[in-house]
Amino acid sequence: MIKGIIFDLDGVLLFTDKYHYMAWKAIADKFNIPFDEKVNNRLRGVSRMESLNIILSYSDQKFSEAEKEVMASEKNELYREYLKKMTPSDVSDDTRYALDKLRARGLKLAIGSSSKNTPLILEKTDMAKYFHAVSDGNNISRGKPDPEVFLKAADYLNLQPCECIVVEDAESGIDAGTAGGFLTVGIGCAAQYEKTKRPIKNLTELLTIPELSE
Ligand code: BG6
Ligand code: MG
Repeated sequence: MIKGIIFDLDGVLLFTDKYHYMAWKAIADKFNIPFDEKVNNRLRGVSRMESLNIILSYSDQKFSEAEKEVMASEKNELYREYLKKMTPSDVSDDTRYALDKLRARGLKLAIGSSSKNTPLILEKTDMAKYFHAVSDGNNISRGKPDPEVFLKAADYLNLQPCECIVVEDAESGIDAGTAGGFLTVGIGCAAQYEKTKRPIKNLTELLTIPELSE
């Protein structure tokens, strides 16, 4: 029986995936590295440094670890400029409706995000109030597709993985959920992924998947 839902943040609850794209695009352009939405989709769910390594794999240029650190923090500065302008109105009606309904049904809700910026995003959008637990880039040592972030979220909720659903927009996130023994729900890009168990078009649709329908 499902008792908890673990949500990825960027690209699932909020459109911050666009801000990640714009910030990385600025860095890639600066170094003349080809970067488009297709490459960007490979970065979904992946940590900041791993994302940079994927972007750099499209270039012949060689960068030292110190140079890469500078590029990653520059990207993060640009990204945080977008985040700082976010407000509660950035949360869609669909997202609010689904979260309210799930809470009203007595389900425990958690965040399972690779992002170290999760606390800032939750604060700016006033979303922390929806969640019983937060597991994010600040409490993990292995990024998705490793299941660590979701296993910790389930643990914080005092639930077993088989009692939880993972909602993801990233293939790496679906892989992480599957590896951890969770039922996976895919939205956006992950809705087309063959390993996704339950594809949905929007979060309201989550309320009607067989495991959650009343
Ligand atoms: C994930 C995003 O949620 O967080 C990735 O999908 C991102 O694209 C990762 O790289 C890490 O985010 P941050 O905010 O710690 O740089
Ligand atoms: Mg995501």
